[in-house]
Amino acid sequence: MISPHSLTPLEAAIELDRLAHEIKRLDGPYNHPGMTPLASDTEYDALKRRHAAIEAHFPNLVRADSPSKQVGAPPAEGVSTIRHRIPMLSLDNAFSPGDVTEFDAKVRRFLGLAEDAALDYVAEPKIDGLSINLLYEGGALVRAATRGDGAEGEDVTANILTLPESELPRRLGPDAPALIEIRGEVYMAKADFLALNARQEAAGDKLFANPRNAAAGSLNLLNPQITAERRLSLFAYAMGDASEPPAARHGEYLERLKAWKFKVNEEIRHCLSVAELLAFYEEIGEKRKQLDYEIDGVVYKVDDLELQRRLGMVSRSPRWAIAHKFPAEQAATLLEAIEIQVGRTGALTPVARLTPVNVGGVWVENATLHNEDEIARKGVRVGDTVIIQRAGDVIPQIIGIVVDSPRGPADFLFPDHCPVCGALAVRPEGEVIRRCTGGLTCEAQAKERLRHFVSRNAFDIEGLGEKNIDFLFKIGRIKQPSDIFSLEATERNILKDVVTIWSEHKGRKVSDDPLSEDFHYHTDKLGILPLIAFAGWQEKSVENLFSSIRARATVGLERFIFALGIRQVGEATAKRLARHYGTLDHWRDAMQSDTEEALAELTSIEDIGPAVAKDIRDFFAEDHNRETVSDLVAAMRALGGRVEEAKRVEASSSPVAGKAVVFTGTLITMTRPEAKARAEALGAKVVGSVSKKTDYVVIGADAGSKAAEAAKLGVAILSEQDWLTLIGG
Ligand code: IVH
Repeated sequence: MISPHSLTPLEAAIELDRLAHEIKRLDGPYNHPGMTPLASDTEYDALKRRHAAIEAHFPNLVRADSPSKQVGAPPAEGVSTIRHRIPMLSLDNAFSPGDVTEFDAKVRRFLGLAEDAALDYVAEPKIDGLSINLLYEGGALVRAATRGDGAEGEDVTANILTLPESELPRRLGPDAPALIEIRGEVYMAKADFLALNARQEAAGDKLFANPRNAAAGSLNLLNPQITAERRLSLFAYAMGDASEPPAARHGEYLERLKAWKFKVNEEIRHCLSVAELLAFYEEIGEKRKQLDYEIDGVVYKVDDLELQRRLGMVSRSPRWAIAHKFPAEQAATLLEAIEIQVGRTGALTPVARLTPVNVGGVWVENATLHNEDEIARKGVRVGDTVIIQRAGDVIPQIIGIVVDSPRGPADFLFPDHCPVCGALAVRPEGEVIRRCTGGLTCEAQAKERLRHFVSRNAFDIEGLGEKNIDFLFKIGRIKQPSDIFSLEATERNILKDVVTIWSEHKGRKVSDDPLSEDFHYHTDKLGILPLIAFAGWQEKSVENLFSSIRARATVGLERFIFALGIRQVGEATAKRLARHYGTLDHWRDAMQSDTEEALAELTSIEDIGPAVAKDIRDFFAEDHNRETVSDLVAAMRALGGRVEEAKRVEASSSPVAGKAVVFTGTLITMTRPEAKARAEALGAKVVGSVSKKTDYVVIGADAGSKAAEAAKLGVAILSEQDWLTLIGG
């Protein structure tokens, strides 16, 4: 081995690079318990010593990512996700006593209960923290995950284990089911929040806006040590999957949670009527300030778990529960300016810029003004003192002008041209939204579409936040979705060109094989990749970006559809489309077909009416949209990715999936809405009239002409009992 001082700088740089790579390669398994090291300690130490010796001789060759600068194990690569065994739902909101009465009426209608029939509820404070799913197997806590998108959340097991036993039991009693998901809210008590912020301030660190942010920030960190230094608390209040039902009633379940040493909120009350629910709401509202934890309302739950099961869910919320929110908090401040933002569909949205004001514990400096009519209706002018309202996580709103305060000089003039691209902005008859007509030539629209494309519920590409999208858009690297997946190849090609030009300039031929040491060394000198040279990015972050892009080259069909940003196609609709059509090709063919049948099939899907159908078909009617989609698929494929088939979990496992069913006559064990909801949950299509395409007609008492029609057409006729047997109960 050549002694370090006999090396030329070029030789030293090449060897350092080789050693660094080798050390990094060996480091992987070394730092992860359970993996067999790739080299003996002696070999590993020898590499490190050689590396250190060369660095000592060539201090100007020490790289930012040198192994000598690394202490201990590298932090976890990222947060891993866990799929909840049963999705974690959100709650529908009630804002008035009328909404609560309506909720009760709906529950009764669905279950076929008379107005005066007994129906028990449990009323609970709605804790303002973040929900957590705790999986216990064989009575022992094995995993903890955040809610995430409801289907899967982040693995926070290591963090949650830093909570004391008094907040989080590690073992349930011997009577616990073999498997149970216990759900609750992780929160930070008001006192702990104030103490934390005082410590943050003393240390010159950033302050948390409210206890919920503090709790979330404490849990999501890659470093459980930090969670341990924060005081987090936990209330248990719900259940996910369970190998056997732990109780017949929610109230009873809460008792079992207490017996297993969980903290269950002490304010929780059993209620027998809407009047009692509303009284609870009032009392808790009065008590709110004295409680040692933040709440933003109360939750009402149907007590009987069998009724809960029957009620099931709509979209992402259960039919058996509702959140009754406290009124939003308000404050007054100065309206400094009105700016116009251009969204991904070209909508011009006025945004109010405010003198920052604290509204119920959160600093607000922007508020939405929705559209031009809204500005006119509220009569707000720049320079007015306005009242701001904020409720929960929703965007703050301007309620109106403070009476008798000095007025701004002039009414706001809404622009009729796009402030970003200058194209005409038009407002079709009968609509409230004015839109830029620039399409994708409008930078704002193109960028917003990209932001939507990479967002959490779409392709979820880590490292492509707003700032980076803006930057990559500006330098022309990413103009449309497919560019994201060819970014790495584009970069490497540019890099090759740069090396060629550079070596020509130097008069020395440098190998252009990216795997050669020669190439690596010279590109290293050039700043690794042009991207880095431009943006001052670290090599590591560019590598991370590429690898997170590669990781997302395969996505589920529902995310793919949602990511396209078709007007009115939100997550729920995207999911329904994916589940219905199964594969990208089926879906795309159907959307591009202009036959009556294709349209009828599309509008037969739950929640897809003619207006939504039109938007989807309009999207595919445009050449550039079809191109965008096929370029995207090609770019994903070039990275070895693809669009995965939609998981038709319920559909394929159920004997009635995809079948057309008609219910007629009076059913006994369930109401018509319940029958319909259950059939649809199993993937069946419930239709109103009998035709040759109908698979089953389910007849209740006094079935009339539909039963006769079915008999005539030879469609299978089932009694209510036959139907129940078919769907397994
Ligand atoms: S029950 C199916 N009970 O509110 C509903 N949720 O808006 C399961 N929350 O994600 C939740 N206090 O984070 C329930 N006593 C309580 C709650 C509560 C707070 C949160 C929870 C949930 C959100 C829904």
